[in-house]
Amino acid sequence: MSKPKRVAITGAAGQIGYSILPRIAAGEIFGPDQPVVLQCLEIPPAMNALKGVAMELEDCAFPLLEGIVCSDDPHVAFGDADLVLMVGAKPRGKGMERGDLIRENGPIFVGQGQAIQKSASKDVRVVVVGNPCNTNCLIAMHSAPDVPDERFSAMTRLDQNRAQAQLASKAGVATTAVKNTLIWGNHSATQVPDFVHTTIDGKSARDVIGDDAWLKGEFIGSVQKRGAEIIAARGLSSAASAANALIDHVRDLRQATPRGEWRSACVKSDGSYGVDEGLISSFPVQADGKGGWSIVQGLELDGFLKEKLTATVAELAEEKRIVADLLG
Ligand code: NAD
Ligand code: LMR
Repeated sequence: MSKPKRVAITGAAGQIGYSILPRIAAGEIFGPDQPVVLQCLEIPPAMNALKGVAMELEDCAFPLLEGIVCSDDPHVAFGDADLVLMVGAKPRGKGMERGDLIRENGPIFVGQGQAIQKSASKDVRVVVVGNPCNTNCLIAMHSAPDVPDERFSAMTRLDQNRAQAQLASKAGVATTAVKNTLIWGNHSATQVPDFVHTTIDGKSARDVIGDDAWLKGEFIGSVQKRGAEIIAARGLSSAASAANALIDHVRDLRQATPRGEWRSACVKSDGSYGVDEGLISSFPVQADGKGGWSIVQGLELDGFLKEKLTATVAELAEEKRIVADLLG
């Protein structure tokens, strides 16, 4: 058995934490031969609940789980961490947009970004989930200037999975028949679910579905608003599907992406596709299997997609302006 991977998770006693911790301990990110240590961070009022989560994890007797750390000190929770999952943040309630949380949640990512730089492994990878995740990721990245920027990403994989499921259902095929669903921009109501580059059984999804009005209207709108729809139905934001997407995100950025495919992930823009350099935006990303990734180049954006991309990038730029004082 190899040296354990240290996985830090913030907000570990919350809903997403409760869904994801057993799955990581069961080997769903690093595989069946890789032991893990779970390093859980919470705020003091949630430490007792976290204790209960840790007891349940112990009671699962997971063969791969070598240890559980519970702390309200980010330096302890991030100590030598190979992977930091930044989930701990307030979720939105009914009638709110994710961006409404920015001034409340943004400051969390300053101190925690600094603690990652100081205490995590030199090879750490960081994924931001707490909303608004793109801009919170930007704040964390700026707060850890010694950690290479490409180690930071934020999650639109849930949106990608939602789009894939919707297209499969509309076409009456299995989700596995749908490839290269793609989200551009912000994890918000302006995100751009791209049906133009998606394939179904190897053919253009647009041709297979044959209903542009549905694709441009109901499909895009339903992916953009799915988070709000779940909040309206459950009274709480998505958690099981978010945890599942986070596992997909981390696992797929570690493994080489099959040739000709991509995954949606929010990463630092290098100016590709006209997205302002430095913003954390969702792009088609290909992983090299050695810990690196690149933005897939050369996809043609038609006028419809370009207009929507411009709007979501403008929103990201505005979020950046609102947190300018947190960017060091
Ligand atoms: P939750 O309220 O159930 O849990 C959040 C946990 O974070 C709580 O236990 C809380 O005590 C903890 N917390 C708060 N501030 C903290 C801090 N400074 N340090 C450490 N822990 C802290 O919420 P949840 O449902 O688990 O969602 C967490 C976040 O993830 C929310 O912001 C939500 O909007 C976001 N989210 C993002 C996506 C995505 O696709 N990017 C999907 C779902 C949820
Ligand atoms: C989601 O997409 O489900 C999450 O970002 C939670 C939310 O606020 O919508």
